[in-house]
Amino acid sequence: MLPEVRIIGSGRHTPDEDLRELVRQEGDDWDEFASRITFVASSADDGSDLAEAVAVAEKELGDEATRLVYLSVPPSAAGGMVRMLEREGLHERAHLVLEKPFGTDLASAKELDEVLLDVFAPEQLFRIDHFLGKEAVQNILVLRFANGLFEPVWNAAHVAYVQIDVPEAIGIEGRASFMESTGTFRDMISTHLFQLLGFVALEPPTVIDAKGLHEEKAKAFRAIRALDPAKVVFGQYEGYRDEDGVADDSRVETFVALEARIDNWRWKGVPFYLRTGKALAEGRRTITIGFREPPLEVFPCTADGEPNELVLELTDDAKVYVDLRAKKPGPALDIAHARLSLELEQAFPDDTAVEAYERLLLDAMRGDHTLFTSTEEVERLWALCDPVLADPPQVQSYAQGSWGPQAALDLPGDRGWRLR
Ligand code: BG6
Repeated sequence: MLPEVRIIGSGRHTPDEDLRELVRQEGDDWDEFASRITFVASSADDGSDLAEAVAVAEKELGDEATRLVYLSVPPSAAGGMVRMLEREGLHERAHLVLEKPFGTDLASAKELDEVLLDVFAPEQLFRIDHFLGKEAVQNILVLRFANGLFEPVWNAAHVAYVQIDVPEAIGIEGRASFMESTGTFRDMISTHLFQLLGFVALEPPTVIDAKGLHEEKAKAFRAIRALDPAKVVFGQYEGYRDEDGVADDSRVETFVALEARIDNWRWKGVPFYLRTGKALAEGRRTITIGFREPPLEVFPCTADGEPNELVLELTDDAKVYVDLRAKKPGPALDIAHARLSLELEQAFPDDTAVEAYERLLLDAMRGDHTLFTSTEEVERLWALCDPVLADPPQVQSYAQGSWGPQAALDLPGDRGWRLR
């Protein structure tokens, strides 16, 4: 899908190993492709080698070449890097893909935006949240708005609770300095999990394009009540402080669970539970929409605490389930739990899923903003996270391989976390 390209990797230090070896893939076209990859060092203070490498590449590619700059640096470094790009003239004809988190709170996000908009036009900016590039996440919109079945019940009259659950079995994987300066709340909640919540909660856009989607997401985010620190649990896995590069007395959270509320007509009264963390029992990305029980119990024994649920497994081989009750075959009217399921890989065996970053980088090259996040969304999300940043809950420790601190398990009340 790529046009003719040159790929220049850059960082403060040249890696010990050749970049081509680091990213080596098997395949017939690899060597030809690898010949287009190079690496030069650069920093906020000095981008001259980078500018030189870009000039060489553009000579080979010709005048028509456009630039895609993908910046994956900590929030504190983003502004300086943008100024470096400006000094070297690399902002011209460029699409800038910027990795999250965008700032570390509302004030710093606004400051970063000022720098960005001083250097780039809004249409040059692509704030990436790779969860939106996942096939399964886009499928939420298709499920809701390309079908007549779900939308009529997609509201507080029929939905009792929503859970957005992204536990990870992995630890910090050598990213100590990132985790120490960012923490899971900023890394995952104010970004990926709230973006998922946006897709579940938004009103039907008139058109699914950048404007339509950004408007509706921003509207949904405006309706989310600012988070209540009393409904947020922070955890840190046992042994985190022993990881290389982690402070002995670190209070950084590697786990967050919280309850969010949306004060609008559609969602009034429905709790949204969000959970994510490192070194947990299982790696999952699961959205569970729990439905209310039928108004009248015409069959005995249906009030068994196992209501109908729509489960979206946001894995690479995406799955959608509806858990419901059915008659058990046999001479009696016995009722049991059964599952309707849709497995995307099986439904479309001839089609290949596109990985999230593949999709988003391609969109950024094409100039399509639909699956990127807008300034308004980012700022609103920081605003509603601010009470937690200002008054963070005490970090509680949890055993590796568990489901986090007890307070988090207790958060949804008797129902618990519904993860099948
Ligand atoms: C990244 C976070 O954005 O997303 C990581 O920085 C996290 O901490 C990762 O592990 C999860 O992404 P995925 O696509 O592997 O679920």
